[in-house]
Amino acid sequence: MSKRFYVTTPIYYVNDVPHIGHAYTTIAADVLARFYRLRGYEVFFLTGLDEHGQKVQQAASKANIDPQTHCDQLMPKFKDLWTKLNIAQDGFVRTTDPQHQTVVQRYLQNLYDKGLIYQAEYTGWYCTFDERFWTEKDVKKGLCPDCQRPVEQVSERNYFFRMSQFQDQLKEHIQTHLDFIQPESRRNEVLGFLQKPLEDLSISRPKSRLSWGIELPFDRDCVTYVWFDALVNYLSGLEYLSSHPKASEFWPASVHLVGKDILTTHAVYWSTMLMGMERPLPQSIFAHGWWTMNGEKMSKSRGNVVDPHAMVQEFGTDAFRYFLLREVPFGQDGDFSLTTFHGRYQAELANDLGNFVSRSLAMLGNFSKNMIPSNAPETETEWDHQLQQTASTLFEKIEHHLYSLEFHRALETIFGLVQMANQYIDKTAPWVLAKDPEKTPRLHTVLFHLAETLRFLTYALMPFMPHTAESMKTRLGLTVDISNSAFLNYPNWGEYAYINPVTKGASLFPKKDMPRTEESQPAFSPNPPLTTGKNTQTVPLAPSPLTSHDAPMIGIDEFQKVQLKIAKILEAERVPKSSKLLKLKVDIGTEHRQIVAGIGKKYAPEDLVGKTIVVVANLKPAKLMGIESQGMVLAAGENEMLGLLGVSEDIPVGTKVK
Ligand code: MSP
Repeated sequence: MSKRFYVTTPIYYVNDVPHIGHAYTTIAADVLARFYRLRGYEVFFLTGLDEHGQKVQQAASKANIDPQTHCDQLMPKFKDLWTKLNIAQDGFVRTTDPQHQTVVQRYLQNLYDKGLIYQAEYTGWYCTFDERFWTEKDVKKGLCPDCQRPVEQVSERNYFFRMSQFQDQLKEHIQTHLDFIQPESRRNEVLGFLQKPLEDLSISRPKSRLSWGIELPFDRDCVTYVWFDALVNYLSGLEYLSSHPKASEFWPASVHLVGKDILTTHAVYWSTMLMGMERPLPQSIFAHGWWTMNGEKMSKSRGNVVDPHAMVQEFGTDAFRYFLLREVPFGQDGDFSLTTFHGRYQAELANDLGNFVSRSLAMLGNFSKNMIPSNAPETETEWDHQLQQTASTLFEKIEHHLYSLEFHRALETIFGLVQMANQYIDKTAPWVLAKDPEKTPRLHTVLFHLAETLRFLTYALMPFMPHTAESMKTRLGLTVDISNSAFLNYPNWGEYAYINPVTKGASLFPKKDMPRTEESQPAFSPNPPLTTGKNTQTVPLAPSPLTSHDAPMIGIDEFQKVQLKIAKILEAERVPKSSKLLKLKVDIGTEHRQIVAGIGKKYAPEDLVGKTIVVVANLKPAKLMGIESQGMVLAAGENEMLGLLGVSEDIPVGTKVK
């Protein structure tokens, strides 16, 4: 029996055009779906739109059209973006699809018949924006505790789902299934939430207040609460969008990907609904972090919303897919800045990957008439061996990282091989070998190793950067079908018989100028397309920390003069009369140091104590506002400090950083 993998994204509200948050989850789901397809699993990847509820009704009335027309007009914007981002979903749910509505009504009736839905009078504080009630104790100063918008007192007869009945069962499930809620910190949050008694869930809205929804099958005067309706998509989508003869067997889902803000609705509402419906719970719910823009929350009113179309237009689909998954660990919040994007593009895509592909293919062209030498003799040098070894363990590592949704680590591993391959070229210097006919066998070995590395990278990049991988496959003349099941068995070094000539082709990632500063960057305003280079603003180019042309090159010996160490902050206080400076006491292993750091706008002193950071330990002491500073903390950012550098592992203080 073949293995199954079912991945979902949230279904997105159609109150506006899609943004980076939507793109982020959908790209992540696509990578997983592609990977598992290649690995020989039967995959179902579901995404779609949440078309009911107050938000959509309000957006439609603002546009002066009926809600269905509004949804029909916005739907293509999502589908078009998914096409542009090379998203290969198996199903696209719309909650206004009649088949979905039938499934929702069936589950409602089922719960009602079992006595798990009852009617009661309810009075509470209602937040229109979040479409939920709050209790007296939640509401402070008449504001919604979640979105800080004013709430209003509403009294109405509603239907309730007996959610409270499942509280203990849910707690127990979470505690005994450690993969169920991820990452671990989020699991603890949900368990914290479940410390308080769980209330029953209002699952209806009177039509007099909200008409845009699915009618309750047992009361035609009410519509279904939008979250109840939306969550059922994970089951309904399988029922009517899959052509698989055993579609129902995809349930329980392997993973629901959600943003951190909608974890509770999934972990608590959805799980208890499933318990009531007597269906198994999903294997896991993974809550990813949120993107900010240059350290600020993205919002239309601030004009700092990243427009995925503009990014793709400027840098290409694969660069956008790469950046989103490489830059930030999936469970953590991340900051989007054009400087960082451009930096990674230049350093990792143009310089590392793009260069490796073009150098290798050029050498195969020049030194071997575009033909890949036949399987070379066994590896000869330590370098050959290392390259082959690293490539051979690549797929297991990717699988391991993707299992725990560490996309950034999977990409880091792949690009580690790219870097090694570039060093391999420098070490083996094929252009020198080519000058001496006696060295032809060695030259052939080296060229063969380069071709094999290209082949391994082509496969490895398939799930992440499908266009790039496809293009590499064509250039390399590979005839294998890299679609379903290509990774059923991982490739073996030397097993492929090359018969076709290679073609160099145009640069995969042409170098780009750094677009103008981000404040003036049209990519981040919701409307106009990006016009890099033609921007007439006079603001100077922001330096990119990752590109070599912005800073002079230094040798390793110069870098090694800087002594970097892991340190722990013991104390922190503000420097009087300075908004920026903080006085820190840090432990650097051998001693305690006093460091004055310009991080006071970003951090409150109390947030810093206990943080593990990286410091320059051999900087000459200097005085800042009359206070001696005996070192320097490392932080990221330019004009504005965005964050301190820390470490992802538990590393003892005093450890050297190299
Ligand atoms: N319709 C509900 C989901 C129902 S699922 C049964 C919804 N829709 S949404 O359109 O408002 O949000 C969809 C997703 O976008 C959420 O997972 C949310 O976390 C994510 N994001 C919105 N802004 C984001 C960022 N700035 N960064 C990352 N993701 C963010 O909620």
